[in-house]
Amino acid sequence: MENNRAQWGSKLGFILAAAGSAVGLGNIWKFPGKAFEGGGGAFLLMYLLIVPLIGMPCMMSELAIGRAAQSNVVDSFGRLGHKGYAWTGWVGWAVAFIITCYYSHVGGWVLRYTVSYAMESGKVYADPLGYFYNMLGYDAAAGSTFIPWPVLIFAALFMAVCCFIIIKGVEGGIERFNKIGMPALFVILVVLLIRAATLPGAAPGLKYMLSIDASKVTPQTFLIALSQAFYSLSLGMAIMITYGSYLPKTENIARNTFMVCTMDTLVAVIAGFMVIPAVFATLGPEGVGKGGGFAFVSLAGVFQQMPGGAFFGFLFYLLLLFAALTSTISLIEGIVAFLIERKGWKRTPTTIAVGLIMFLIGCLYTCSQAALPIKGIWFDFKNGITYPAFCDAMEFLTDRIMIPVCALGCCLFAGWSWTPENVCKEIEQGGIRFGLVKLYSFLIKFVAPAAIIVILAVSLFTGTTLS
Ligand code: PHE
Repeated sequence: MENNRAQWGSKLGFILAAAGSAVGLGNIWKFPGKAFEGGGGAFLLMYLLIVPLIGMPCMMSELAIGRAAQSNVVDSFGRLGHKGYAWTGWVGWAVAFIITCYYSHVGGWVLRYTVSYAMESGKVYADPLGYFYNMLGYDAAAGSTFIPWPVLIFAALFMAVCCFIIIKGVEGGIERFNKIGMPALFVILVVLLIRAATLPGAAPGLKYMLSIDASKVTPQTFLIALSQAFYSLSLGMAIMITYGSYLPKTENIARNTFMVCTMDTLVAVIAGFMVIPAVFATLGPEGVGKGGGFAFVSLAGVFQQMPGGAFFGFLFYLLLLFAALTSTISLIEGIVAFLIERKGWKRTPTTIAVGLIMFLIGCLYTCSQAALPIKGIWFDFKNGITYPAFCDAMEFLTDRIMIPVCALGCCLFAGWSWTPENVCKEIEQGGIRFGLVKLYSFLIKFVAPAAIIVILAVSLFTGTTLS
């Protein structure tokens, strides 16, 4: 069993695939808005502390668990002697499943906009909000709704590409795609950064991102930064355990974790330094939005006013597209790897079946944005039972509850049950020396679980809009 388990073909292949998972819509589209909300420099500073102190120990643990167990996300815990933690794996698996349903649809929207900027940027500029709503099945002028077939087809296309790559396997598909996609992403990012930083009027935006306003350093900002870090690093959802299980014993988990986290953070920070100054320069600070529509609606104003805007707009969505693809692929791999191993199913039909089901559930996500009044259900102690739109309920459930629960399970497992000694032993396989054993143990036993419990408590008790 262990011998025929797939492995990464090269060190770089793994790093790029793991970074590909981490670098996603979260970095480029969520991070800048949150950084703005959190006061720019203040948020940035907090985020830069959270990643090494909480993100890195968690990622290292997940990779070590996967590599030591050589198994999928659910069975790994049992293989390491603690069957009682299988629930952690189930939650992680379920998170990956639910997130893929909507993430792949947002990928479809991004694909739609990539095509829009290539072919009809004028239409987008003419009425950015109207264009966005129209894509989602709502005609604001007529006040009527309709099933948004075109964007559903784009989402189907997006899902099909992801499934195709998964079917090609770990080395031949995932690794190979990331080796092209990730460098392409970096190049586009740098081009866009230069474009944004050289816009007249970009300076106040840059200044905002660099100055620390102490009044913005609040517990709320800290929590937003913390949950953003988990989401952005792809923690608490089956992925790093699965990817770790494909990692050869000779690889240095600590160093790889450091590189993946650094790349992910770098992309987020660069995205912040690109989007915020560009919005300041064109629309002013009021132009920075937080919600999902931001990347689609407000940025249209930015590209419209920027010389060469349609081209840079196209590049921007291409960037988002690569980021979304590599992340979705990692999500689907976590789901499929489990089914293949557990049920003995074949890779190709499993991928197709799972992809189809997730696409169909995702249709409810896209349609509940504006076209159809599909509701979900949500509970918190402040507001009681509420019925938010189905799309919001999905995001609440994963981001506020399930990811923290799974991450907490991993921390407790690594810190208290399997013990940090075993994690470090796994890290030191192949003669590698890991010099931070004490620090790691402290962080994974106390700091990370405490922080996660606070996120959960805040979500449940205050009904806050952490995402
Ligand atoms: N980490 C990805 C991002 O920043 C999101 C993601 C979530 C990817 C879950 C995989 C799994 O967008």
